[in-house]
Amino acid sequence: MEIELKCIECGRSVGEGTTNRCECGGLLDVILDLDSLRERVSRKLFNSRLGSRRFPYRSGVWRFRELINPLIPDKDIVSRPEGNTNLYRHEKVEQYTGIKNLFLKHEGENPTGSFKDRGMTSGISEAKRLRMKVVACASTGNTASSLASYASLAGMKSVVFIPEGMIAFGKLSQAMAYGARVLQIKGNFDDAMSLVQESSHELKMYLLNSINPWRIEGQKSIIFELIQQFDWEPPDWVIVPAGNLGNTSAFGKAFHELGELELIDEIPRIASIQASGADPFYKTWKENLPRLEAVENPETIATAIKIGNPVSWKKALRTIKLTNGLVEEVTDQEIMDSKAVIDGSGIGCEPASAASVAGAKKLRESGVIDKNERVACIITGNILKDPDATINYHLSKLKKISPRFANKPTVIEPTTEAVRKEID
Ligand code: F0G
Repeated sequence: MEIELKCIECGRSVGEGTTNRCECGGLLDVILDLDSLRERVSRKLFNSRLGSRRFPYRSGVWRFRELINPLIPDKDIVSRPEGNTNLYRHEKVEQYTGIKNLFLKHEGENPTGSFKDRGMTSGISEAKRLRMKVVACASTGNTASSLASYASLAGMKSVVFIPEGMIAFGKLSQAMAYGARVLQIKGNFDDAMSLVQESSHELKMYLLNSINPWRIEGQKSIIFELIQQFDWEPPDWVIVPAGNLGNTSAFGKAFHELGELELIDEIPRIASIQASGADPFYKTWKENLPRLEAVENPETIATAIKIGNPVSWKKALRTIKLTNGLVEEVTDQEIMDSKAVIDGSGIGCEPASAASVAGAKKLRESGVIDKNERVACIITGNILKDPDATINYHLSKLKKISPRFANKPTVIEPTTEAVRKEID
């Protein structure tokens, strides 16, 4: 049994270690030995670990450890544990989108409130195995929160590069509280991403953005767990918000491996949804361009996906091709109205997460998705991450957005009469 890191561009094998790119500049893939894994894994094995209290199988990531990092010893695994997130259905969301069988997989239920914990448990565990002392990332907020938490758990130092004034307060507060060194970069996320790539090698910081192939390995577990929740019968569509494109990349790899291991019979179509003011992947895919058409000044209320130059675009494109998928874009108005519907159904999410439901609605309306198809939307982050966006929506204070579902509080006199007037 061996694990290989391989360049996605030139196919060269790169020895294990701390590098995230091949000499040729290409991104790296973790290549699992699927032939030997075929004999070791089964639906039965993964089902037998459901509900287990044993370390590390309680985690919805490490339950699938053979497909995440098969060689890592227990002592190096850093887990809170993550995953085991719920799959919801709600009439309101089904009516809003016009899709009868719509499921929401709520990744905001992870320990730090976003799906990033799945990639982070995998990335930090590998950092521990490599005896790294300092870890770093650039972030629109959620990766930073997750990195800060897992690094502190593992006794490592963390440095996070965030675009100054552009991340939601819930996330900034988490990064500070969990003990990261927070560097506010004068620039946007793409500037922070360039800087962390440039400086991390020289300053011996282990880079834990999704450019690190071990992050992608952990994020595959969203799909493994989803398919297990569907009793190994995949839905027709998986719809995911897209920013730096780590998730889109991970999902394709997960489906490829599940297919090769004969754990599923069919591969669903993946729809990757961008915000229309931050849509380089959408443009590149739509126009079939040979190179990514970066967006110079990305703009969206969904700060988590306010990204103009996503690093993983080539891996993500591979996913779209493999799954006969597509890329779509949605406006901030559509994102915030969809969020209000998800929130109002009692489920709740942060703005970027609602791009998946907004995308589902748009694809249903244009007839791409049939009303009877089974659709799983990934909800990527917790409702408490960005309370400012929520409150300003309901108070009609967001520029260029007229809230369809505003729920404004009223100030009243402290009398029963005043209450009756409101209730009636
Ligand atoms: N949704 C949320 C809530 C996110 O935080 C992110 C990415 C995405 C969607 C997009 O996922 O990058 O895999 O395409 N947040 C990163 C961060 C960039 O730094 O927290 P992606």
